[in-house]
Amino acid sequence: MTRRSEKIDLPVAKVRRYLEPGPIVLMTSAFGGARNIMTMGWHTVMEFTPSLIGCVIAAGNHSFELVRKSRECVINLPTTALTDEVVGIGNTSGAEVDKFAKFALTPQPARRVAAPLIRECHANFECKLADGALIDKYNFFIFEVVKAHVARTPRHPRTLHYTGDGVFMVAGKIISRRRQFRPALLSE
Ligand SMILES: Cc1cc2nc3c(=O)[nH]c(=O)nc-3n(C[C@H](O)[C@H](O)[C@H](O)COP(=O)(O)O)c2cc1C
Repeated sequence: MTRRSEKIDLPVAKVRRYLEPGPIVLMTSAFGGARNIMTMGWHTVMEFTPSLIGCVIAAGNHSFELVRKSRECVINLPTTALTDEVVGIGNTSGAEVDKFAKFALTPQPARRVAAPLIRECHANFECKLADGALIDKYNFFIFEVVKAHVARTPRHPRTLHYTGDGVFMVAGKIISRRRQFRPALLSE
């Protein structure tokens, strides 16, 4: 692969296609007897101790009020085995359908939050709102992960990474550069 190539101008609104980190996750929420699932790509790690994750939940989404009012959620990590469910859940509203029933997913009780885990996902991260200062301005929620459940295998799950326009990349080839890292950067 070459290290340099001719570049074209890109409309800045499309930059997200290159930087959107992925993996795509399924966020579950619950409040007042209602529960829901939404597909999410706009999330970012902010700190590891405490374990902080920031993410954008559009105010028009049914999930927005469930998460804002309960101040909790679960971030569930699907693999390619759930590709159709990821797309379906991201294109339907929990205001109209019970997505657990519609997409045949199994809710499991979480340990620290009311929102359910999705059993079919590779990992489930229980989260409590750590800072809501940016919700009104940016729909940006800062969560602390308070409990994490992960499958033992596979070690590198085939996760989905969204590139816009209905197209996903799939996590694949694994490479290691451990020997070139400063030890301090490898501890976590
Ligand atoms: C691949 C993909 C990624 C998405 N990422 C986000 C996101 O990061 N934030 C968001 O608010 N909506 C995102 N959406 C849209 C929501 O999943 C969609 O609006 C969904 O219908 C919301 O469900 P709800 O209304 O039941 O909460 C994404 C959808 C797809 C398909």
